[in-house]
Amino acid sequence: MQRTVCFVASAITMSLAAVGAQAADTGQVNIICSVQAEWCNMIGTVYAKTTGTKINVSMKGSGEALAQLAAEKANPKTDIWFGGTGDPHLQAAEMGLTLEYKSPSLTQLHAWAQQQAQQSGYKTVGIYSGPLGFGYNPELLAKKKLPVPKSWADLLKPEYKGDIQVANPASSGTAYTMVATLVQLMGEDKAFEYLKALHKNVGQYTRSGTGPIKAVARAETAVSISFVHDAPGEKMAGFPVETVTPAEGTGAEIGSMSIIKGARNLEAAKKFYEWSLTPAAQEMAAAAKQFQLPSNKTAKNDPHIPDFKSIKFINYDYAKYGASAERSRLIAKWEKDVNSLPR
Ligand code: G6P
Repeated sequence: MQRTVCFVASAITMSLAAVGAQAADTGQVNIICSVQAEWCNMIGTVYAKTTGTKINVSMKGSGEALAQLAAEKANPKTDIWFGGTGDPHLQAAEMGLTLEYKSPSLTQLHAWAQQQAQQSGYKTVGIYSGPLGFGYNPELLAKKKLPVPKSWADLLKPEYKGDIQVANPASSGTAYTMVATLVQLMGEDKAFEYLKALHKNVGQYTRSGTGPIKAVARAETAVSISFVHDAPGEKMAGFPVETVTPAEGTGAEIGSMSIIKGARNLEAAKKFYEWSLTPAAQEMAAAAKQFQLPSNKTAKNDPHIPDFKSIKFINYDYAKYGASAERSRLIAKWEKDVNSLPR
């Protein structure tokens, strides 16, 4: 899903250029954006219009973004990595791909967002959070005479064979959140037995984390493993999609943002970063029909944001499952022990 979009407020950009941005700092920001296109486009357009900064946005899933940043390490082409699940941002911090930056706005953020910053040595920060759950198409379930799955255990029932979609954890942070959640919930051995059994019911592993819920909305599959905040936007577009969180408990992502080490447009990147932590910028998510919980405590919470208090959460160990060796090991194990099996 590599797609680069450029946002320019041309007249303003030219006048800024005329006042002499330094050669190394061209007053532009190159962003890898790992949230949905609607939100990426909204921030790109609004920021370019209001500041005159040229914004290049390239959209990539969390795992793919990390792979690109690792590949560009010697010669970074990216200034900011905006959004995507927190685990690969923590891994990027450990791999020395991102820059330590302590924002003066940190105290305006929820504790979980500040903790994400502390745990990374201030190389990343939480910008939103959202719970993992299941998406389902009530019309398709009724047509197939299938019940709504209510637990992780339900997803293993043979009647769902071929009707469950989830993303591939190597490319998708959503799917890695699922693997890490199951390991924490069940212990590693049982979690991998579970993933092998689930594999039999999975019709398709998609590249992007939102692929499965979009497939549910369009009645291409009955059930998905998805972030529950990805459903209301589909529903608003007129699709029949509902969500549920598993009875045994579930994990949540801490969507994050990092400045890239060696960023060519560092000062402009810091300005964009600060703007992204403001309540006004964070409220743009809901305006773009994206319903994660904003990390700024004073941002208004749209009523479509999932009610965290009604969900049973595990105590997700972000430091452990965002550690480079652990994330790489679990993904490699999933490829070898699960994805290679016949279905
Ligand atoms: C969607 C969700 C985000 C999440 C992202 C991860 O955009 O709305 O909350 O961070 O997916 O994408 P990925 O493709 O890495 O699973």
